[in-house]
Amino acid sequence: MSKFKIILVSLGLLFIGIMLTFSSLTYEPELANHLPLPNYYQQKVLHRRDGIGKFYLGREIAQVMGHQEILWLERPTRQTEEQPNAVIDALNLKPNDRVADIGAGTGYFSFRIAQKVPQGQVLAVDIQPSMLDVIEFLSQENNINNVKPILGNETNPNLKNQTIDLALMVDAYHEFAYPREMMEEIVQALSPRGKLVLVEYRRENPFIPIKTLHKMTQRQVKKEMNAVGLQWIKTQDFLPQQHYFVFQKSETQG
Ligand SMILES: C[S@@+](CC[C@H](N)C(=O)[O-])C[C@H]1O[C@@H](n2cnc3c(N)ncnc32)[C@H](O)[C@@H]1O
Repeated sequence: MSKFKIILVSLGLLFIGIMLTFSSLTYEPELANHLPLPNYYQQKVLHRRDGIGKFYLGREIAQVMGHQEILWLERPTRQTEEQPNAVIDALNLKPNDRVADIGAGTGYFSFRIAQKVPQGQVLAVDIQPSMLDVIEFLSQENNINNVKPILGNETNPNLKNQTIDLALMVDAYHEFAYPREMMEEIVQALSPRGKLVLVEYRRENPFIPIKTLHKMTQRQVKKEMNAVGLQWIKTQDFLPQQHYFVFQKSETQG
C-alpha cells in the first residue's frame, strides 16, 4: 500500500472513531444564551442527548420528562419494578404528617401517601400544569381531599417555610434545572429536623435499563445534598433498581 493510501485509511479510521465517541453527544449552541449562571453551574455545548448541557457539581442535568409520558408514569409494571408500597412503608408516616411530593408527576406517590396521612396533607408540587391537571382530576374522581396540587417553578417549589415534615422526590431530582436553588428552598420549607427522602435509579449499575442521566450514584447524591447542608442518615437498597436515601435538616438549619 502506498504511503498516501495508509494516511488516507488512518484518517478515515480516526474520523469514524471520533464519530463513535461523540455519537451519544449533541451540540446545542443556543443553550449558551442562558449565561451567565451562578458559578456552581457550567453550561457546555457538547453534552449527552438526554441532558440539557448544564452541569452541577460534575453531573449533567437530565431533560424534564414531558406530559406525553403520563401513561408511562402510571404503567402497571411499575408495581414490580419500583415497588411503591415498599417505599411508602419505609417512609414511616404518621397520620398527621405534612408531606411534599416534589416533582409529583401524575401523583403516583402522592395518592398512595395520602391514604397514610388521613389527618395530614400531601402537597403535590410540579412545574408542568398538565401534570397538576391529572392530579386534580384523580382527586375529584376518587374523592380524595388531602392532596393539594402546587405549581412550582424551576427554582422554587412554592412551599411555606418550616411547614413540611417530609419532602419526597421519586425519579425527579435529577431533572431539576436549578437543583441548588430548589434544594435551598426545600430545606427552608422543612420543619426543624424534617426529613428528605430521595429515590433515584442506581447509576453505578450499567445494566439498569434507564437513560444514564436519569440515574444517580450514591456519591453524587450525597455530594449535592451536602452542598445545601443536609445531614445524610442512610442509604438503603431494598428496591430492585433504585437507591433510597434519607437526609435530615440539621439543627443549625433551624
Ligand atoms: C419522571 S417524573 C416523576 C414523577 C413522580 N415523582 C413519579 O415517581 O411518578 C419527574 C417530574 O418532575 C417534574 N419536575 C421537573 N423539574 C421540576 C422542578 N424544578 N420542580 C418540580 N417538579 C419538577 C417533572 O415535571 C415531572 O413531572
